[in-house]
Amino acid sequence: MPKNYRKFDKAIIIGWNLKEMDFLNQAKLISLNTPYGKVKYFKLKDCIFICRHGIKENVPPHRINYRANISALQKLGVKYIFSFNSVGSLKKEIKIGEFLIPSDYIDFDPPTFYEKRAKFIIPEFSLKLKEELIKILKKLKIKFKNNGVYFQTKGPRLETKAEINLIKNFADIVGMTMAKEATLAKELNLEYISLCSVDNYAQGIIKRPLTQKEIKENQKKSIKEIEKIIKEILTEDLNKNKKRRK
Ligand code: HPA
Repeated sequence: MPKNYRKFDKAIIIGWNLKEMDFLNQAKLISLNTPYGKVKYFKLKDCIFICRHGIKENVPPHRINYRANISALQKLGVKYIFSFNSVGSLKKEIKIGEFLIPSDYIDFDPPTFYEKRAKFIIPEFSLKLKEELIKILKKLKIKFKNNGVYFQTKGPRLETKAEINLIKNFADIVGMTMAKEATLAKELNLEYISLCSVDNYAQGIIKRPLTQKEIKENQKKSIKEIEKIIKEILTEDLNKNKKRRK
């Protein structure tokens, strides 16, 4: 375990468009070995940044080593994880450009750290981090919806219209990353919350055909607000109501 691991209380997991995040230029890039593989992360103040698609953004969703990422955070002493996830909307009223804090998720193929013994965690998001996130969004006057079910798909292809027709009855947004991280974080007792940026309507929800170009362009548009939110997270002392750990 690194000697200075206790300094890192929080972590931020981000997706695409790292180059748009100016503050990462000042961050130090470090490698860490875990039992599940090597993880590269940035260190900035008391925060760890993991780019789930890799520093070169060449790791597609189905190839992300979630177990390595989450176990690296535990190894570094992280307690709190804020995650940013791009999603498609399954409901007309959840519009492109909006943010949503999911309240639950569906993932029929969850990953686990417990291959050799049975440990049955109860999936849930961190209420403490949800409150922090809401405080920040209100301060920045960023509109958001604060409930919704996330449906996890494997990727890398987008969903068929028939798949969307089915899942829209049970979920509000669809994405390829978040639920897996949330499950693994809970298995290791790390607090986890996600802020989803709605970057498209899922196939067939509106008449206009979906294109990858549209998703990419909208992801780029949401990054400036995400950057503002991250800057606020960096200034938060999440242990302020607790005795500081020595
Ligand atoms: N489907 C799955 N994942 C996504 C989508 C989508 O429509 N948009 C962004 N991530």
